[in-house]
Amino acid sequence: MTTKSMKIGILTAGGDCPGINAAIRGVAKTAIVSHNMKVYGISSGFLGLIEGDYAKLDEADVSGILTLGGTILGTSREKPFKGGESYRRAIDKPQVIKDNYKKMGLDCLVCIGGNGTLKTAEKLSKAGLNVIGIPKTIDNDVWGTDLSFGFDSAVSIATEAIDRLHTTANSHKRIMVIEVMGHQAGWIGLYSGLAGGGDIILIPEIKYDLKILAEYISSRAAKNKGYSIIVVSEGIAREKSKSAGQYIAEQISQLTDHETRGTVLGYLQRGGTPTAMDRILATRYGAYATELIAKRKFGHMVALKNEAITSIPLSATAGKLKLVDPGNALIKKARSLGTCFGDVC
Ligand code: F6P
Repeated sequence: MTTKSMKIGILTAGGDCPGINAAIRGVAKTAIVSHNMKVYGISSGFLGLIEGDYAKLDEADVSGILTLGGTILGTSREKPFKGGESYRRAIDKPQVIKDNYKKMGLDCLVCIGGNGTLKTAEKLSKAGLNVIGIPKTIDNDVWGTDLSFGFDSAVSIATEAIDRLHTTANSHKRIMVIEVMGHQAGWIGLYSGLAGGGDIILIPEIKYDLKILAEYISSRAAKNKGYSIIVVSEGIAREKSKSAGQYIAEQISQLTDHETRGTVLGYLQRGGTPTAMDRILATRYGAYATELIAKRKFGHMVALKNEAITSIPLSATAGKLKLVDPGNALIKKARSLGTCFGDVC
């Protein structure tokens, strides 16, 4: 079969983020322009594949979307191999997906998503479908790639927010706590905390001690540093009934005599146009995914390794998380500048 007659289906699943449309564009334009393939966009992640909700994507459909946030295909957290988020009747979703894949006449399914999506992609690959994964998540916790797209945009948004907190914290001599996303990983907290000059950075991978935090804040005040910025990853250990940022703000307020305020940055980190770096990375991932399809190298996820785009088997990444190594060079450097990670300060 020449690539001319190949048909690709694209779906986007899991949490949205800036850059998804750049990836869709990268897959589709490479397929249409360089390989004369046909491309279909599947709606709402795996839900669209179950419901047979898809439409052909022509070059015109993917022009002008490079800078567009979100995903033109829509997304969902449907997990076909688990209880889904929308289906009441008991249907064999994996079987329905296989039937619809066949009915669409697809030669390959491109799954753009994070850990959950890539796990489902690997299961579908094992079930006999030709699948290619593209790592997408602001959390940057996909194992096997240096970067997922969406991460750079989230770090930029969080950094700009932290910059703004400095001026209000300084004016009021307050302790400002900002909670950033990242699920169980501390990548966004670490990078935005460093870029934004956070005095304290709390990530799930480093166990913190509230007493040490309180002493550190008091020692700063004694040196006439009357305000502090605390960047908190949402996944840190804390009283489960409270959000991470709220918990830390309350504890600091109780343990020190400083006015403390909390901000949860939330979904702002997932919104809006991608940064230039995310546009480039997502485009590179999309184009490379199509090249893998042309070579019929299925069952792989595209990845970034030391600036080069490559691929790893989906089986190598599925079910794993890429967490921050507490001994990594960035953390060592930050500590040498006096940044506190809540353990020794
Ligand atoms: O995985 C991306 C992410 O934004 C996480 O950082 C966050 O914990 C989660 O999604 C939020 O999930 P939802 O979009 O379902 O509220």
